Amino acid sequence: MTYQVFSILALLAFLFISPSVGYYSQPELLVTMPFKEGVAAAKRGKSIITVGGETNLESYSNNLNQLEQWPTGYTWTSLSQQNTPPASAYGRAVVSKDNNTMYLIGGITNATNNQAVPLQIYQYNFGTTAWSSQLNTNNITNNASTTTTPLNRWLHTTTLDPNTGNIYIYAGAFNASVMYADFWLLDPTTMAYTSLPSPQIRRYGHTATLTSNGQLVILGGAMISMTYDQGLLAPMTQLQVFDTKSNQWTTVNTTAAANNVMPSPRSHHTATLVNGTKIIMFGGDNNGSPRELIAVNSVYILDTTTWTWTSPSMGGILPSRRGNAVAEMLDDRYLTITFGGSGQNLYNDINVLDTFTNSWVQNFVAPPSYSFGLSTGVIVGVSIACVILFLIICFLLWKFGHYLRWLVMRIHSDIWKPRSGEPIWAETTRICFQIFLLFIFFVFLAFVVRQAVTSPNITQNIQQSAASVDVPDIRFCFDGYPTYPDANDPRNPGIACQTNNGYTCSQFVQPLNMSVFQPSFADKLGPISCYLFRPDNFFRMSSTSGTNNGSRLIFTFYGDQSITSSQIHMSAFPRSMDPNAKIYNINDGTPVLLSTDAVLNWQNAEINDLQSTNVFSVSPFTYAAMSYTLLDHQYLQDVGWNYVGFLPVTNSTPEITTNFRKESANPQYAQGHPDIGVVAVTPSSYTTTTLREVKMYTLLNALGFVGGIFGLLIALQAWLFGYRPRSPWGVVHRWSIGDMKRSLLRGLQRKFKTTDASGIPLVHPVHKRFSVTDFNNLGNETESQRISRVEERMQVMELLFKAYYVDDEVFRSLDNANKAELGASTLRQRASPAAMLNDSIVYSNLNNANAPEEKFDMDVKGAKPAKSGDYELVERHDASSTSSSNHSAEHKHPTSLL
Ligand SMILES: *[C@@H]1O[C@H](CO)[C@@H](O)[C@H](O)[C@H]1NC(C)=O
Ligand SMILES: *[C@@H]1O[C@H](CO)[C@@H](O)[C@H](O)[C@H]1NC(C)=O
Ligand SMILES: *[C@@H]1O[C@H](CO)[C@@H](O)[C@H](O)[C@H]1NC(C)=O
Ligand SMILES: *[C@@H]1O[C@H](CO)[C@@H](O)[C@H](O)[C@H]1NC(C)=O
Ligand SMILES: *[C@@H]1O[C@H](CO)[C@@H](O)[C@H](O)[C@H]1NC(C)=O
Ligand SMILES: *[C@@H]1O[C@H](CO)[C@@H](O)[C@H](O)[C@H]1NC(C)=O
Ligand SMILES: *[C@@H]1O[C@H](CO)[C@@H](O)[C@H](O)[C@H]1NC(C)=O
Ligand SMILES: *[C@@H]1O[C@H](CO)[C@@H](O)[C@H](O)[C@H]1NC(C)=O
Ligand SMILES: *[C@@H]1O[C@H](CO)[C@@H](O)[C@H](O)[C@H]1NC(C)=O
Repeated sequence: MTYQVFSILALLAFLFISPSVGYYSQPELLVTMPFKEGVAAAKRGKSIITVGGETNLESYSNNLNQLEQWPTGYTWTSLSQQNTPPASAYGRAVVSKDNNTMYLIGGITNATNNQAVPLQIYQYNFGTTAWSSQLNTNNITNNASTTTTPLNRWLHTTTLDPNTGNIYIYAGAFNASVMYADFWLLDPTTMAYTSLPSPQIRRYGHTATLTSNGQLVILGGAMISMTYDQGLLAPMTQLQVFDTKSNQWTTVNTTAAANNVMPSPRSHHTATLVNGTKIIMFGGDNNGSPRELIAVNSVYILDTTTWTWTSPSMGGILPSRRGNAVAEMLDDRYLTITFGGSGQNLYNDINVLDTFTNSWVQNFVAPPSYSFGLSTGVIVGVSIACVILFLIICFLLWKFGHYLRWLVMRIHSDIWKPRSGEPIWAETTRICFQIFLLFIFFVFLAFVVRQAVTSPNITQNIQQSAASVDVPDIRFCFDGYPTYPDANDPRNPGIACQTNNGYTCSQFVQPLNMSVFQPSFADKLGPISCYLFRPDNFFRMSSTSGTNNGSRLIFTFYGDQSITSSQIHMSAFPRSMDPNAKIYNINDGTPVLLSTDAVLNWQNAEINDLQSTNVFSVSPFTYAAMSYTLLDHQYLQDVGWNYVGFLPVTNSTPEITTNFRKESANPQYAQGHPDIGVVAVTPSSYTTTTLREVKMYTLLNALGFVGGIFGLLIALQAWLFGYRPRSPWGVVHRWSIGDMKRSLLRGLQRKFKTTDASGIPLVHPVHKRFSVTDFNNLGNETESQRISRVEERMQVMELLFKAYYVDDEVFRSLDNANKAELGASTLRQRASPAAMLNDSIVYSNLNNANAPEEKFDMDVKGAKPAKSGDYELVERHDASSTSSSNHSAEHKHPTSLL
């Protein structure tokens, strides 16, 4: 059930280590848009209309599509068309001035390839969605204005003059070795050509861009001058420019703007007008032979008012290098670049260049812009806020200065603790050393915490034996086996499933609707039909024999036995990670945990035949075997808690690993079998396997190291500067304030009552002579006063030590031992004070309430003092030395005390 709480993140991480792709992130377009280059395209409103082009499968195509830009992204739609023209590639398209018609001009088709036919023009009417061809241009005769007929061509340029609606047609290729140098003006209203003067340079793969001031700028391309010089790429330093106002060609020299570089010569690039006078040039290639082709993805901007090139450094992720792409500005800001190719790679991605920021963007959400310019209002506001803050701080200092001083004092007294007799340098060294050790400790702490935070994840493989294991989904695609019209034709592809104990599992095999989604295989052997084996949840493979569904699956393939060059492609998925269930909408109660993006990525890889794990191909007339292990991979989630080290937050992702073995084809196979091949599928082991990701170091591990080093440092400090037992008071006592503090002090006072004269041991000296230098004036204290004061001090001393420093257990034991030894007679003796003294027992066991003779009940543990017999220091002192009570008699014995 934990499967239901998986997050999309980990699924993505699992299925596709998604590379950082440069294209506009709309994965569904990558699945629906074809891979093409040499597409004829024209801008219409906020759309690019595309016709034809070369794909991986066919050299020519005739799809008509619309790529429309919206504020949130792009849509790719197919436009309906009647009288569809022949499939073509490398033609050019122009949308008429009124936006109602599109002209497809030139391009190669199967019929016109290498044929000297008149220039092919087809018109598409967006209103009627019908194509028409006005090929009376075939018959253009030689007269004054129309001298000859332009011949059909490709990789030429067609440029619409938005003011007149006329189309300039320049140069292009007849075939791979013959190219044109002619220049024409086509009036689409009459379909009449006018031959214009030409710069007499044969070229193709160039671009022609008409600026707002009427200059037709020819960029790049491969050229042969009329003198049949060596075919070269046209230089970018010298451009042919046609002035449409004066009908004159000029040659202009260009330069690179300061700190910019000139573009290298290129062909098959794109050129798009922005802001009326600037031309953005993207991509292109060196027009090399297939073995020497080099494509680029650089961007240059030509300012046609100054004829300078700039080479802006582009932010974002660069698109793939390509030639023959389509580029249009569909709004004022973003340049949309799509399709194109480089050698074997054709592209179907959309790349968006933000011309405001010179960066490639993945979506239209504008990057946040930070403004550091401060307005006067902000400055005034901040100043006022500062003044108010200052005043508040001053007030607080004035009001609570007392507490601050107190705080400083507390901290000082907590740190600065010289022992009496210790010179100041000793204490200073101790404190310096302590700070140094503390510093070392914190450095170590930081190191250990950092180690825990940067610790790598390791994966534990946990296997537990199981009686039965799950069965994966398996997709079989027949590649190159046609389906015959008669549904009962035995040559139709099909799959039978059995287990090794005869159970038929064919009911779990279902055909997939290839018009919903069809994978592509690079071998292109022919028609593709796919089947999905997706068993019920309770269909499992068992390790034991007997009443079960078996331990091995056997798939038998049927198809046209006369076909020998076909393949059957297998892919295996954990049931809950089967993208097919989502794509073909199979709702059988097992939820599919894949995100839409993950499914789209998978489809994209399928279209390009890029899958590489858990996919195998079976040749006809072979026997093959596949083993699988279904895993539960528990990925650590990227949450801070996982650094702590217990109860990690993970999410389980079902995964599968497979192994495959196949034999070579048996030429005699068809003689003995009605089928075309067999695959056996077995679990690789009867275990449930869990891959658990754990952090190598966690904070919990770090705690151990920290404790060790802490002890070491403490020991070092004690070794160097002696051991100082901490005060029995903890931070709670020391730092308590108010009532808490008062109650603590009251408790002390009540329990350790002293007279002022006796002073507090360790704080006040025993006798004044220890603190004064004037020994002649020691006051006039009687001997008995002095003795009683010393007694009292002794008593307080003992009480304090007992309460705070000394566990009196051993003393009590001694007492008990004495009692036991002396027996009843001693008890009798102890009734008299003298006996007590003889026993050297000065203080009775505090808890020994049984002894009725006990004189003292000095339960420091806080019981309320009994009314009589309590050893009340103050009382006794008040009674003074003249008291003749038992108590005094006992304690006045000087020898036992001193
Ligand atoms: C044709 O579309 C362009 C935008 O591509 C627009 O500027 C122009 O006004 C449109 N012309 C007509 C006649 O609708
Ligand atoms: C291409 O044209 C040739 C003859 O020029 C023809 O034999 C062939 O069938 C055509 N191919 C297609 C796909 O139309
Ligand atoms: C165009 O030329 C073809 C043959 O070349 C001819 O049959 C046709 O009548 C001509 N059309 C016109 C309008 O002259
Ligand atoms: C050009 O030829 C066409 C067809 O022969 C003819 O109708 C037209 O008048 C001619 N134009 C001129 C300027 O002679
Ligand atoms: C291109 O056409 C010319 C003239 O028809 C021909 O001589 C040449 O062989 C053709 N080149 C290719 C590569 O087909
Ligand atoms: C362009 O440069 C060439 C040499 O590179 C030079 O001969 C020519 O005069 C220059 N043209 C202009 C208009 O400056
Ligand atoms: C076009 O003009 C806008 C506004 O003036 C400017 O922000 C933009 O950078 C210009 N584009 C180019 C390519 O210069
Ligand atoms: C396959 O899917 C298409 C729609 O994508 C549908 O029109 C067709 O009927 C489906 N075929 C079958 C056999 O379900
Ligand atoms: C075999 O599988 C079927 C479902 O595929 C299930 O109904 C049946 O209980 C299984 N039999 C055994 C013995 O497990």
